[in-house]
Amino acid sequence: MKKRLLALAERHGTPLFILDHPKIRKNYRIFKKSLPRVQCYYAVKANSNQEIIKTLFESGSSFDVASYNEFMQVYEYLKHFEEKEKDFFIWDKIIFSNTIKDPETLRKIKRYKPLVTYDNVDELKKISQHCETAGLVLRLKVPDTGSQVEMSSKFGAEPGEADSLIRKAFDMGLVVEGLSFHVGSQCTNFDNYTAALAITSEVFHEARKKGYSLKIVDIGGGFPVPYDKQVPRFEKLAQLINAECQRLFPEDIEIIAEPGRFIVATAATLISAIIGKARRDGKIFYYLNDGVYQTFSGVVYDHWIPNFHSFGRGKNEVCAVVGPTCDSFDKVSLSVELPGNLGIGDCLYTENIGAYSIASSTKFNGFDGARVIHIY
Ligand SMILES: Cc1ncc(COP(=O)(O)O)c(C=O)c1O
Repeated sequence: MKKRLLALAERHGTPLFILDHPKIRKNYRIFKKSLPRVQCYYAVKANSNQEIIKTLFESGSSFDVASYNEFMQVYEYLKHFEEKEKDFFIWDKIIFSNTIKDPETLRKIKRYKPLVTYDNVDELKKISQHCETAGLVLRLKVPDTGSQVEMSSKFGAEPGEADSLIRKAFDMGLVVEGLSFHVGSQCTNFDNYTAALAITSEVFHEARKKGYSLKIVDIGGGFPVPYDKQVPRFEKLAQLINAECQRLFPEDIEIIAEPGRFIVATAATLISAIIGKARRDGKIFYYLNDGVYQTFSGVVYDHWIPNFHSFGRGKNEVCAVVGPTCDSFDKVSLSVELPGNLGIGDCLYTENIGAYSIASSTKFNGFDGARVIHIY
C-alpha cells in the first residue's frame, strides 16, 4: 500500500486527498444490509465532493442536504428527469435536515413539497409563510453524552414541548410527517441511541393517540467509524437499532437515517509533505504543506484526532505536526510518534480522513489545500 501511495504522490504532487469510491460503495452496502428497514439519506455535509454524490446517487442512496447549494449538487443528477419523476425523487429521497432554513431557501424549494425538519415555533411560522407545501419532521433533543461532536446544545425541541409544536404545526395548516433526532456525531455510547429511540417512541405514540398520524422516524447520523480499536462495532449498534425499532414502532412507519461520517470517513487517505523541520524546546516540529485551515480542519470543527504514518523508518519520538500557515493556532497535533530522522521532502499519510476534512477546508494564507483524486 505504501508503494502505491508514494507513486500517487509522485505523480500528482502533495497534499493529495485520495478518494476510494469502491470503499464508499462498500460502506453504503454495509449500512443498508445492517439496517434493512432504514432508508439511507447520505448527509452531504460530511463530504460534499460532487463525485461522492454521483457515486451514491448511482448506488441508489437518498440525500440529507443542509442548504440550497447542497440540494443543487444532488439536483445535478435529476435535472434531466421528467417533471413528475423529478418531483417524486425530491419528495421521496431528499430531506432538508437543517432545523433553521433561510426564507429564500424555503421559497426556492416550495414547489417540490420538500421534507424539512424544525424544532421551534419561529421556524414553523417561517415555513408556513414561505413553504407551506413542506412535510415536517420535528427534531427532538436527545442525549449525546460522549459523542465526538455534540448536537443537543444547539438543536432539538425538548420532548416536553413536542406535543405543542406538533399541534401548532397542524393548527397552522402544516403537516407533521414524523420525528427526528441526532445523538451526536461519532457516537460510541450506544445508550444514546437507546434513550433517543425511547424518547421518540413516547412522543410518537402520544401524538398518534391525539389523532396525528405521524409516519416517519428519522434516526439521524452519528454512526461510529472504527478510527481506533476501542470504537464499538457498527454491526452491534445496527442490531440494537433494529431490535428497538421493532419493539417501539409499528410496522407501517418509515424509518430513515442520515449517515455522513460512516459512509465517507474510511474512504479517503491524505498524503502530505514535510516542508520544514525545527526543534523547539527539545521537541521536533514537522511543518506540513497541509494544516488545520485546510484538510485537517476536522481537528478544529470535528474534534478529530488525526493519525500519521511515515513512509520511512527511524527511531520514533514524540513530535509535533503543524500546518504551513503563519498562524500559531495551526497545530495539527503536538504529540505524534514519528521517526525523528524525517526531513524536508519526506511524506506522511493519514488514513480515514474522508469526513469533515475537505468539506471545511479554507484558502487561508493563500494555501489551496489538497488536490483530490478519485480511485474508481
Ligand atoms: C442533521 C444532521 N444529520 C446528519 C448528520 C451527519 O452526522 P454523522 O456524520 O455523524 O453521521 C449531521 C452532522 O452534523 C447533522 O447535523
